[in-house]
Amino acid sequence: MSAPRRILVVYYSRSGTTQRIAELLASELGADIEAIREQGAHTARSGARGYVRSLLDALRRREVRVLAPIHDLSAYDAIVVGTPVWASRASAPAVAWLKAQRARIRHVALFCTLGGRGSKPALDQMAKAAGKAPLAVCAITAYDLRRRIDGTKRQGFGQKIRHRLAKLGQTDWVV
Ligand SMILES: Cc1cc2nc3c(=O)[nH]c(=O)nc-3n(C[C@H](O)[C@H](O)[C@H](O)COP(=O)(O)O)c2cc1C
Repeated sequence: MSAPRRILVVYYSRSGTTQRIAELLASELGADIEAIREQGAHTARSGARGYVRSLLDALRRREVRVLAPIHDLSAYDAIVVGTPVWASRASAPAVAWLKAQRARIRHVALFCTLGGRGSKPALDQMAKAAGKAPLAVCAITAYDLRRRIDGTKRQGFGQKIRHRLAKLGQTDWVV
């Protein structure tokens, strides 16, 4: 039997939804967890001003600055990265984090939370920033949360990550 694969869940969350999904995922996967933190004092994203700032950051693809992770990424088989969708794009801090850390990430899985529109371009943008094809992707909408079908989606996502990692583990032995 192969050794259990180590997973780290990393997320950016402005208003708590992505954080909640990240926490549930981490607990279901037996994974460690860490929030993406922005650098500098001018990073408030709350309230109407913060909303507009976030919208403009996404629309203009502004390069924001984020802090280095606390966990050592090289110790993990896979990093699961979560973001809210902003203007049909990934949040600026999540994109910045992926770009900065891409060389240290072995395998990546991606998820987003959103009102309802724009998951595909946001997840594609994240994959591009990570520089690799994701093991699995998952989008959780406000409708999913209202209908309480987020758990089924999360579990399918987690199973796919585990399955893909197990398969990669087998090929590690072959090569
Ligand atoms: C600036 C901004 C832009 C948004 N743009 C979209 C969008 O294009 N499509 C969508 O479905 N939801 C959009 N949303 C809603 C968020 O994606 C959604 O509420 C998400 O779950 C929030 O996650 P969080 O609580 O972790 O920040 C937007 C929210 C913000 C703040």
